[in-house]
Amino acid sequence: MKAFIFDLDGVLVDTAKYHYIAWKTIGTSFNFNLTETQNERLKGISRTDSLDLMLEWAETGMNLEEKKVLLRQKNEHYLELIQEMDRTEILPGVLTILDFTKKNKVPVSLGSASKNAQLILKKLGLLCYFDNIVDGTHLTHSKPNPEVFLLGAKNLNTHANQCVVFEDAAAGIAAAKAAQMVTVGVGDAKELAAADYIFDSLESIDSNLLQTLAAIS
Ligand code: G6P
Ligand code: MG
Repeated sequence: MKAFIFDLDGVLVDTAKYHYIAWKTIGTSFNFNLTETQNERLKGISRTDSLDLMLEWAETGMNLEEKKVLLRQKNEHYLELIQEMDRTEILPGVLTILDFTKKNKVPVSLGSASKNAQLILKKLGLLCYFDNIVDGTHLTHSKPNPEVFLLGAKNLNTHANQCVVFEDAAAGIAAAKAAQMVTVGVGDAKELAAADYIFDSLESIDSNLLQTLAAIS
């Protein structure tokens, strides 16, 4: 049987829009207007790497202390935005797939760059579905580096080629491919063209396909 590894933001829960709002606000502090297209490139990338990319696009320099202030402000704003979040923001199809994994004993890991992942899973009552969590507090490298998924496979005691990764970010698909894993892209088909399977929403994955992905006969 295969193991499933889920990204968090934009796959399990609709938090990608809150990251965007918070980054856009930070951008205005150095006169930079973050576009939706640029925001796509921030998906899956760590908080520090995201700020560095924005500064590069804005052609602006900043010392470490100034960066620390903005990183703190970004996270404070993000935490405010997600404060009221409840189970209605779990994305369509997620609970069906997680119930499938529980029922069929498919091993499940989280594979997210977010340092807020535990908090969000707890808030939404999803922690019980996970055998293992890899989040931003465990990682040295951002996606597309495969570290996040390789660590997930290792912690689940399985081989990388026995894992199926669910991702909404091009950087995440690239990371999973670099780890030799099967990839399921959720979202924009153009952004996720490199994935083995692409769906608008997890809701489009029926039980037959779930069985195939999990290699349950
Ligand atoms: C995920 C999201 C990114 C976010 C990163 C760090 O990868 O897709 O948009 O910047 O996590 O999240 P954090 O909650 O630690 O700021
Ligand atoms: Mg994501």
